[in-house]
Amino acid sequence: MKPTPFIVGNWKMNGTVAEARALVEALETAVAGLSGVEIAIAPPFTALASVSAMLEGSNVQLAAQNVHWATSGAFTGEIAPAMLIELGCGIAIIGHSERRQFFGETDESVNARATAAIASGLTAIVCVGETLAEREAGETLSVVERQIVRGLAGLTAENAQRLVIAYEPVWAIGTGKVATTAQAQQVHAHIRALLVTQFGADVGASVRLQYGGSVKPDNAAELLAQPDIDGALVGGASLKAADFAAIVKAAV
Ligand code: PGA
Repeated sequence: MKPTPFIVGNWKMNGTVAEARALVEALETAVAGLSGVEIAIAPPFTALASVSAMLEGSNVQLAAQNVHWATSGAFTGEIAPAMLIELGCGIAIIGHSERRQFFGETDESVNARATAAIASGLTAIVCVGETLAEREAGETLSVVERQIVRGLAGLTAENAQRLVIAYEPVWAIGTGKVATTAQAQQVHAHIRALLVTQFGADVGASVRLQYGGSVKPDNAAELLAQPDIDGALVGGASLKAADFAAIVKAAV
């Protein structure tokens, strides 16, 4: 049996607090009462406190777009796990390809962030995915395998209860080019096998694997129907309440 689908909206660096509040209001109405699916949104850090208060009692959870591995200290510009938890944020996206590409994130820093996040009680959404050059060179599976093996090093089956993996081919992010269902399922199946090796059959099968990269209302259902696709990490389409709600409904 497939795990409960998990749809997360990654707002990236978009929205003032006022804009975030307006979007949340529209979104809450659009997804009110939906069950059989887990829903979360990841607004910018600056909007977390305000949005958190709005989400109290709703079926939408709060996520952050990054989290540091230390509990405090001289790490200018970073946010510690407890700071997120204090705001009612229970989930953190880690190692998004934009962080890897523009901010020097490595498999090792992803591992440190994920380990600390999970130890603090957060759910970690660890992002992996190949670039276009890597896909064209036939390296997709080996790149993703390296990112999974190094990014999850040291995590136990117990830790994996709070782990989600997002497979996001870099060439599909924000480009309108979505992976075919066969391309996505092939990589998801490979990730699933790696998780089963590391965590055992039961836990490996229960970790949600999200697809991300130009997920839209018109392609969500087909992607989510694949045997190893258990959710979506949605960028652009999560900034429109109606589109995001349509993707959530496709998962139900
Ligand atoms: P996109 O972004 O849906 O705009 O392609 C996905 C992501 O980066 O998480």
